[in-house]
Amino acid sequence: MFSVALLAALHAGLSAALPAPASFFPELMVREVQQYNASLPNITIYATGGTIAGSAASSDQTTGYQAGALGVDILLQAVPQLYNVSNPRGVQFANVGSTEITPAILVNLTQHIQKELDSPYCQGVVVTHGTDTLEETAFFLDLTVRTEKPIVVVGAMRPATAISADGPINLLEAVTLAADPAARGRGAMVVLNDRIASAYYVTKTNSNSLDTFKAVEQGYLGFFYNIKPRFFFQPTLPLGRPYFDVSATPIDGLPQVDILYGYQGLNPALAKGAVDAGAKGLVVAGPGAGSWTRPGTAAIREVAAKGTPVVFSRRSENGFVGDRANNTFGAGLLNPQKSRIMLQLALNAGYEEAQLSTLFEF
Ligand SMILES: *[C@@H]1O[C@H](CO)[C@@H](O)[C@H](O)[C@H]1NC(C)=O
Ligand SMILES: *[C@@H]1O[C@H](CO)[C@@H](O)[C@H](O)[C@H]1NC(C)=O
Ligand SMILES: *[C@@H]1O[C@H](CO)[C@@H](O)[C@H](O)[C@H]1NC(C)=O
Ligand SMILES: *[C@@H]1O[C@H](CO)[C@@H](O)[C@H](O)[C@H]1NC(C)=O
Ligand SMILES: *[C@@H]1O[C@H](CO)[C@@H](O)[C@H](O)[C@H]1NC(C)=O
Repeated sequence: MFSVALLAALHAGLSAALPAPASFFPELMVREVQQYNASLPNITIYATGGTIAGSAASSDQTTGYQAGALGVDILLQAVPQLYNVSNPRGVQFANVGSTEITPAILVNLTQHIQKELDSPYCQGVVVTHGTDTLEETAFFLDLTVRTEKPIVVVGAMRPATAISADGPINLLEAVTLAADPAARGRGAMVVLNDRIASAYYVTKTNSNSLDTFKAVEQGYLGFFYNIKPRFFFQPTLPLGRPYFDVSATPIDGLPQVDILYGYQGLNPALAKGAVDAGAKGLVVAGPGAGSWTRPGTAAIREVAAKGTPVVFSRRSENGFVGDRANNTFGAGLLNPQKSRIMLQLALNAGYEEAQLSTLFEF
């Protein structure tokens, strides 16, 4: 078992020629720090793939913007400025498009990041990620890693071969943020397009544009001026943000939770169908404030009465959903994909009806 004492012993035993620690996870491909500067913070970068992994080292590299085509090594080489703000250590955690990120990868990632941040020798972490499901990973890390240190999730909207690719500057801003003591105590954050957002509320609002990550009602935490973070407020956390311990959860141990989408004439059979196919909880993306058709509601009540909790979220981009009963819950401010992760983690923690209602409708 990993411990701080073991870490300290390993660090103490390092020779001057090898200032960076060896990987504690030998199964991982790690790019150790190339130019160590003792005055700078140590930042660990977990690369998972996505468009940002297309940040090619040279301009004659015309392929490789497919998700996961380039490794963490290339990613770091492409942005030498990282060495002016940190000692960056790269960990190749996955190399996939963000739709291939699974609950198992998230549990695994949390367990690795928690150990890394528990070390006194690491000041913050950055996760590079495809943008399509980036908000889900960021939300998951926000709820499952217990730390004051910054966790910054970053992606890119443009592949490296495009004019004005955004990956390199996004990565530099993310690492600069993770290395800044003013970023502590703010939960997990998302960086794109010169903005800093709380992982709790931010969502991808546009499929194509650079200014896609927003929390329209809650706003941003801050922005970058000349690549340095500037915050609007003192460190603060979202009201009601819970913590879920997944340190002992088996990698593939999270329960299945499915999302049903609401529309005119929706198919009521899908609720029971999802439960029959293994769902231990359901989230509905209801029109308006989580409304649902009359036959659909009868079907939902039936699965809820038989023990499957159902969280009512919204199809609208913003809004609050509350006031449910009988093993159904309003999602509060959470969108369907974040409600799903919250319900998964709560069920994993053994929450039952009474606890679920305080969790979602605080
Ligand atoms: C190490 O980092 C400090 C702080 O940014 C900087 O002043 C110094 O020049 C750096 N040293 C080297 C050798 O780059
Ligand atoms: C790092 O900072 C030094 C001193 O400001 C500067 O000369 C150098 O160009 C910087 N390196 C990069 C890669 O930006
Ligand atoms: C956790 O992730 C690492 C990096 O991808 C991988 O090497 C390892 O096998 C994973 N562990 C499990 C139990 O899946
Ligand atoms: C960074 O890592 C090196 C090598 O493990 C360690 O000696 C140093 O103390 C660390 N720096 C900080 C600020 O933790
Ligand atoms: C909850 O169930 C009880 C008992 O079946 C019923 O009287 C009540 O109307 C239900 N409440 C809601 C909001 O569905």
